[in-house]
Amino acid sequence: MKEFLNDWGLILVTFLPLVGVAVMLCVPKESEGTHKLLALLTSLGAALVGAVVLAQLAREVLADRWGEAEADRVGLRLSPVFAASGIDDPDPGPVHRAIATAASDLGLAYLHLADTGTMMPGAEPRMDEVLDLMRGAFDGPVVLNGGYDAARARHEIATGDASAVAFGRAFLANPDLPRRLAEGLPLNPPDPGTFYGGDHSGYTDYPLWTED
Ligand SMILES: Cc1cc2nc3c(=O)[nH]c(=O)nc-3n(C[C@H](O)[C@H](O)[C@H](O)COP(=O)(O)O)c2cc1C
Repeated sequence: MKEFLNDWGLILVTFLPLVGVAVMLCVPKESEGTHKLLALLTSLGAALVGAVVLAQLAREVLADRWGEAEADRVGLRLSPVFAASGIDDPDPGPVHRAIATAASDLGLAYLHLADTGTMMPGAEPRMDEVLDLMRGAFDGPVVLNGGYDAARARHEIATGDASAVAFGRAFLANPDLPRRLAEGLPLNPPDPGTFYGGDHSGYTDYPLWTED
């Protein structure tokens, strides 16, 4: 389709008006209405094909210039073993590995692997399973998330399984989380009652660490 538009579209835009003129020359001079109709139809046809060709060229230029230049500013987050709300893939490996490989080929900045099941009360961590599924599929920084504390996060980074670990609830409840982790300070516990809605409560009102 793209080739058709680029090649045949351009040919049509260029020559359709000429075809119209040639046909008009064959129409008797006195049929003024037919002349006008032919002129109108060929101009409209050329304009329409021209607009489609231009739109297609614009899309290609954007894909070339933005797509490649900005890929390394985009990260991808996958939750391969997430099972809730009717989502449960009994064999998550093939599709998630294919996505991660495509992301790797595109040169995305990082792959973020989340074990979001850890948010469910009493759920066992499944990150080992996720890592086994995804190992080697993405050639670049890998960020892990889901149920981590500082010690486990440091362990993942030390073993090389993660380039970084992301925190969700701990960050929500601790606006100064980097400092608290760096200095080994206690953390505010998150309040699940304020998750997912309501007002600012539970989002912007957790206290910073103070010495007293
Ligand atoms: C209030 C709240 C909202 C969330 N919204 C999203 C979301 O929109 N999309 C998503 O992929 N994960 C969402 N998550 C999941 C987090 O990104 C994260 O994966 C999860 O909290 C597990 O990490 P944690 O154990 O560090 O909290 C949300 C979590 C919380 C607590």
